[in-house]
Amino acid sequence: MTASSTPSSAVTAGANKRRIFVTTALPYANGKFHLGHMMEYIQADIWVRFQRMQGHEVHWMCADDTHGAPIMIAAEKAGKTPQEFVAEIAATRKDYLDGFHLSIDNWHSTDSPENTELAQDIYRKLKAAGFIATRTIEQFFDPVKSMFLPDRYIKGECPKCGAKDQYGDSCENCGAVYAPTDLKNPYSTLSGATPEMRSSEHFFFKLSDPQCVEFLRGWTEGLDAHGKKRLQSEIIAKTKEWLGEDGKLGDWDISRDAPYFGIPIPDAPGKYFYVWLDAPVGYLASLKNYFDSGKAAHNGETRSLADFLADPNTEQIHFIGKDIVYFHVLFWPAMLKFAGYKVPDSVNVHGFITVGGEKMSKSRGTGIDPLKYLQIGMNPEWLRYYIAAKLNANVEDVDFTAEDFMARVNSDLIGKFVNIASRTAGFLQKHFDGRIFERQAVVSAGVGEDLAGLAADLAELYEARDFGKVVRRVMEAADFVNGYYDTSKPWELAKRAPQDEAARVQLHVVCTVVVESFRILATYLAPILPRLASEAFAFLNLPAQQWRDIHEPLKAGHKVSPYKHLMSRVEEKQLDELFGLLPDASAPAKAERPAKPQPAAKGAASSNAAAKTAASGPQADGFISIDDFAKVDLRIAKIVNAELVEGSDKLLRLTLDVGETNESGQPRTRNVFSGIKSAYAPESLIGQHTVLVANLAPRKMKFGVSEGMVLAASAKDDHNDAGLYLLNPHAGARAGMKVT
Ligand code: MSP
Ligand code: ZN
Repeated sequence: MTASSTPSSAVTAGANKRRIFVTTALPYANGKFHLGHMMEYIQADIWVRFQRMQGHEVHWMCADDTHGAPIMIAAEKAGKTPQEFVAEIAATRKDYLDGFHLSIDNWHSTDSPENTELAQDIYRKLKAAGFIATRTIEQFFDPVKSMFLPDRYIKGECPKCGAKDQYGDSCENCGAVYAPTDLKNPYSTLSGATPEMRSSEHFFFKLSDPQCVEFLRGWTEGLDAHGKKRLQSEIIAKTKEWLGEDGKLGDWDISRDAPYFGIPIPDAPGKYFYVWLDAPVGYLASLKNYFDSGKAAHNGETRSLADFLADPNTEQIHFIGKDIVYFHVLFWPAMLKFAGYKVPDSVNVHGFITVGGEKMSKSRGTGIDPLKYLQIGMNPEWLRYYIAAKLNANVEDVDFTAEDFMARVNSDLIGKFVNIASRTAGFLQKHFDGRIFERQAVVSAGVGEDLAGLAADLAELYEARDFGKVVRRVMEAADFVNGYYDTSKPWELAKRAPQDEAARVQLHVVCTVVVESFRILATYLAPILPRLASEAFAFLNLPAQQWRDIHEPLKAGHKVSPYKHLMSRVEEKQLDELFGLLPDASAPAKAERPAKPQPAAKGAASSNAAAKTAASGPQADGFISIDDFAKVDLRIAKIVNAELVEGSDKLLRLTLDVGETNESGQPRTRNVFSGIKSAYAPESLIGQHTVLVANLAPRKMKFGVSEGMVLAASAKDDHNDAGLYLLNPHAGARAGMKVT
């Protein structure tokens, strides 16, 4: 690889150079990353890398979203301070971010001095401008926990049908919708206590101010710095609904009472900002931290946050998922606007990724654990390519299936693109010492020239985040190059070359055209496949290519490096392992797998133990008989020990007393692996009782044999992250008792 960059690689000059501040949603710091997070980052990373290849200055910020009641409660449950709790999650981020080649410039935290300063500043300015009101509200209070209860922690009987254990907003049994105060016999899910009504003074952001609606109408339908709509049409339609014809927004409650893990509201002792007030401010906090710590200097930016934001050329662009649109297109721009801050230039919304058609739970993710994907040696760029191929600029969901993944990676990415290089490299080395043809006309004309003609269209598609179309167009181009190769029959030319000068020249031309085509296609795919592209450029003996280099053909006689294998194919057994379908896979409890795994291998599903037991399923009416139920031996188990499992990010190893003895009459314990690490600190479980499925066939796992399964509750698809709860019998139950 040549060290010096060609003049054409230089950054786009002055006036055209964009300065872009990009963000991706700040993930809640109470869980590890799941596939949905990776999809968002991969989408943003492709766009960011494309902009950098254009010579633009891009600063991509992200951070952990740390505050709020759920995290405070989860930390307490785990026996940790909220700070310790979020720090442990923060420490897991790097492996994923590096692993998937995500070029985020700064990762920070909302629990930081920068965020406190900025959130309080925004609040003070809103207040000074008359946008903050106070009002006393009545709310449920848990007298045992001494705290006001967020709605999701209140349950009771449905006021309409009387069904028990219904949430405070709606009944899962009859579908009735109501307020938490309508529940009969309400109780706190935190303590079980009956909540009391108490009043408290709350702070509101006055979104009902007519200036707000007026501003938001203009902003949501407005254009970005390049004359394009700042929001997608689906989102504009939604905002029209929200803002209504003669519509009015309700004021937004931005305060919470102590105890709360959050940022104190200035001059209001015991009051904290609601997490969604300080979360988006975290975008700016990360940017401030990046400037103040000098990290921005490496990226060509030496100004302060204030100067950077004051520059009219600075563009602020957010990437988010469809579930958090309201916050980002109403609250956030209004907050910024009336606090006198720069407002966002655009908000790009993506749909959700599902796996085999199944939605994923926020607490447990899906059958695809991104870290496991990396740990079992799957290539991160396969996933980047797959996600790119499935994405468009609309707010549509994306489905991952094993078959589709294999087909696209093996047939398209490798079969069509990677093969172009491997097919030609041998001839070039063997017959021409790795040098392409000596005449420039051959290099720059023909196929290469046609391919370079796609550059403008592809750039537009990248800019618009229409990556699926980029991939399709590039694969069509690859088909074209492969067609040229096939009809040119270089393998026949190579046979004749030693004796036949015309054949030798023809072979050289074919190799040259194909290598030049490969250069162009690799450059087109570089935002999606940065690692593969850099290896391709190394093979081509070129520096990292910028977008404009597409129009700079290789120099006549240019020498390429010996070809090194660029990318392997996905194997079925890798997908089986990823989905936990192999007997020895490290996948923990059954509950961790997707409800409907999509096995890649025909044989895989039938060899899987879960599939075998499915034979004795429910009857046609959906019921099981009492005999069916009696087959399950449920026992009270005492947790005598609980510990972390080295090498597993999900499992805890439990040692259980189920009242059993061995042949010699000595008490015997059982070893059970349980996927509850995210919810419990091991030491907090020791001494507790729970319920064990005692006659589950022992399962050999990577870390040892698991002799049964403990029962835990979780919500199926749960955007509110209700977590995972181990079953716990009332006091008095003893180890070994049968549960019937
Ligand atoms: N903490 C808030 C965001 C605050 S931004 C100031 C949050 N966190 S999250 O961890 O739940 O989600 C982070 C991002 O991941 C969001 O943009 C969300 O839409 C996205 N996704 C969560 N599940 C997803 C899929 N299944 N598919 C694609 N993206 C998904 O929301
Ligand atoms: Zn009901």
